[in-house]
Amino acid sequence: MLSLIVAVANGGVIGKDNSLIWHLPNDLKFFKEITNGHVIIMGRHTFESLPFLLPNREHWVVSRNKGFNAPDGVRVFSSVQSAYEEAQQLDVAFVIGGAQIYEAFLPYVDRMYITEVHHDFDGDTYFPEFDADAFTVVSESDGTVDEKNKYPHRFVTYERKGRV
Ligand SMILES: NC(=O)c1ccc[n+]([C@@H]2O[C@H](COP(=O)([O-])OP(=O)(O)OC[C@H]3O[C@@H](n4cnc5c(N)ncnc54)[C@H](OP(=O)(O)O)[C@@H]3O)[C@@H](O)[C@H]2O)c1
Repeated sequence: MLSLIVAVANGGVIGKDNSLIWHLPNDLKFFKEITNGHVIIMGRHTFESLPFLLPNREHWVVSRNKGFNAPDGVRVFSSVQSAYEEAQQLDVAFVIGGAQIYEAFLPYVDRMYITEVHHDFDGDTYFPEFDADAFTVVSESDGTVDEKNKYPHRFVTYERKGRV
């Protein structure tokens, strides 16, 4: 099964200057719990934005650039299709961004973990529009706002109708 995980602020904003804009430890914890032990699939920009390889997760990077040299243990795919075909052999793999990769994988995704961050940010990268009617919301819960998690946020899980 292919899942997607993303944090989206008002207006669909997901990033700026190839980095995340907000700091929301509750969401980082959620991301870690959900993806722990699994394959994570990302675009080359997102890979290069990571401060380090995320522990206990296998990194797959999609890039058309034949000269792209990934560190040991990181798999590189030259197309979305090839990564998708390989991911189908797994119980679950997670598409973790960014915008280009979300857009390309969206038709194949069965489940989406979307953290809504209810705040206006100035961004330059956006989550693509998706057909909400094609999905059912199977869970939603509000995150706790406190001094470390300043922005109201909500964890929403969608499953594609008729596929999961
Ligand atoms: N809020 C969130 O949850 C979240 C999560 C992840 C990322 N982000 C943010 O998203 C932004 C990055 O997104 P982005 O859209 O600029 O970049 P991206 O999707 O991470 O990576 C784009 C790159 O992926 C490769 N690629 C894209 N489509 C491809 C295809 N069909 N076949 C082969 N390779 C393909 C290309 O690499 P080559 O140029 O090497 O060919 C392309 O330049 C950053 O600001 C990041 O912080 C936010």
